[in-house]
Amino acid sequence: MKILLIASGGDAPGMNKFIAQLYKKFGNSLYACKGGFEGLYNAEIVPVRFFEPLKYQNSAGCCIKCGRFPQFKQKKYFNKALENAKDFDCVVIMGGNGSKKGVKELAENGENAIFVPATIDNDVDGTDYSIGFHTAVNMVCLAVRNVMPSMQSHSRACIFEVMGRYSGAIAQNSAKILQPEFVIAQPQELEVEKIAQTIKSRNKKDLSTCIILRENIIPSEKLAKQLDDIIGEKLVKYFVVGHLQRGGNPTKADLKMAKLFAHEVIRSVAKNQSAVAISFQDGKMNAQKI
Ligand code: F6P
Repeated sequence: MKILLIASGGDAPGMNKFIAQLYKKFGNSLYACKGGFEGLYNAEIVPVRFFEPLKYQNSAGCCIKCGRFPQFKQKKYFNKALENAKDFDCVVIMGGNGSKKGVKELAENGENAIFVPATIDNDVDGTDYSIGFHTAVNMVCLAVRNVMPSMQSHSRACIFEVMGRYSGAIAQNSAKILQPEFVIAQPQELEVEKIAQTIKSRNKKDLSTCIILRENIIPSEKLAKQLDDIIGEKLVKYFVVGHLQRGGNPTKADLKMAKLFAHEVIRSVAKNQSAVAISFQDGKMNAQKI
């Protein structure tokens, strides 16, 4: 049996653990195409052992390399990728909603395909959890807890711009833990005048202000300037948490989830299930038909 592994989209902490678990089970029968669907299109396919999966199993990143390949949606690219996939008994794809669609299309075209949610954004349909989310939230907490003491010493404000693409999950979950003065997870939650007045009055009371802002609403640098202009004083700093969230050392929770997802994939392969999405719902792993 030959199994092909693909990591499509951005990397997510815990992916390496997932890869290592599959490697432990399938050994030399496990292959990877370099850099997501583009590697499948270009037939850049190598045994996973070349990527030293056991060495990286507890680290962030994705040893088999991931990548975005929007051309995959176009028929001519898809057809060539499909041809290359046909050499394998099963294709396992890690990623977000876009990758899930890719799995569906491969399966509709006769390829055995399994989807695993792996994105820090935790915005994949049909699952409560995707690999990497816990680490991303943890890294936001780390950033805020290590920057805010300095803000407090100067009674300043700081905007922490967090990832999530168009999902507020990272912003909201880190806010639950950190209790900032403001969390802006959706555009309608951006009340510039109210935030400015709060920063001003808290500063007068020798207090700092913490603001968690989800990316793709307004750049934190721009918001900081708007706030300072209203306040009439330079009080607002900004910190783009950025790729700290993806590169953060995987938490124990993510390593555990990655293992559970891998075990469910192994079960699905053993049952010869195809066109399934592995999901974690109500505290349980499932393999659902896509
Ligand atoms: O989808 C994961 C994610 O980290 C998003 O949160 C973010 O918008 C995007 O990827 C960043 O991608 P890149 O690393 O390609 O800039």
